[in-house]
Amino acid sequence: MAQDIKRIAVFTSGGDAPGMNAAIRAVVRTATYHDLHIFGIIRGYEGMIKGSIKRLETKDVGNIIHRGGTVLKTARSMDFMTKEGRKTAYENLLANDIDACIAIGGNGTFTGANVFSKEYNIPFIGIPGTIDNDLYGTDYTIGFDTAINTAVDAVDKIRDTADSHNRLFFVEVMGRNSGFIALNTGIGSGAANVMIPETDTSIDDLILNLRKGAKRDKLFSLIIVAEGNKNGGAAEIAEKVKTKFDYYDTKVTIIGHLQRGGSPTCMDRVLASRLGHSAVEGLLEGKRNKMVGLVNNKIKFTSFESAITKEKDVNNELIRMAEILAL
Ligand code: F6P
Repeated sequence: MAQDIKRIAVFTSGGDAPGMNAAIRAVVRTATYHDLHIFGIIRGYEGMIKGSIKRLETKDVGNIIHRGGTVLKTARSMDFMTKEGRKTAYENLLANDIDACIAIGGNGTFTGANVFSKEYNIPFIGIPGTIDNDLYGTDYTIGFDTAINTAVDAVDKIRDTADSHNRLFFVEVMGRNSGFIALNTGIGSGAANVMIPETDTSIDDLILNLRKGAKRDKLFSLIIVAEGNKNGGAAEIAEKVKTKFDYYDTKVTIIGHLQRGGSPTCMDRVLASRLGHSAVEGLLEGKRNKMVGLVNNKIKFTSFESAITKEKDVNNELIRMAEILAL
């Protein structure tokens, strides 16, 4: 193993995701196993700029594997987008003799890491932590499984009241630019339709489907809308549908940040543990400026460049299947 790395800093950045704590724990424990000194940066790039860096011992990550959020806190840093901000961040890493960083986050986090590691020649490894599951180079991101389980649980509850009142519910889930959460929530909750940014379901097609359902005496309907959908959010779509189709009483629910919290599922804890562990061992083996992911259940490293620029496509077979099962 390459032994030029002795002091590693780990941080979380961007939107929090359930399982980030399990990843932090795996990083700290694996680093300690390899006799490395491990530091935590508080609040992501903001903390790097402010110099909020503290030593982490193995006991500091006890009793966190089951907790949502991130014990290292997080932020979406505007200052890190400036050259001055990154210079200050670099000076703070130097002051703490940090040899390499492990960044846990999503697209924005790795975009920052990619620029910074090139400017200052600091090795980075990224761990995909975002509920959106929208990163190329990994089948799943940390937090996605918990988020879809939370969403399905919410939709199950909405189903009860929709059924009792014969209502049409538009349920908005997160996923700024991607429909992974919506598609999986839709399939898992048996929704009548899923509106995602990757496909073009028009309002007229949606109404056509709803009419078909009404014709066969469907008592209620659930439509899952990804927030980034082209026709607008759930409220906007509901308004458009209401003007042309008023067979059902229509309601809107936005699940919102509920999906970001809560105790991570076992799937997310195991994924986070594997990725956190492999991030440290990857660094020691000489991996640089790559994101560690899980592809076909195997650890795989993908360059930051690919992870942030290549599109991860939603599975078209799943979209087709969801349509058939909703007939
Ligand atoms: O990227 C994760 C995510 O939860 C998106 O699904 C959502 O659009 C966004 O973060 C919300 O961000 P914030 O919590 O900053 O409003």
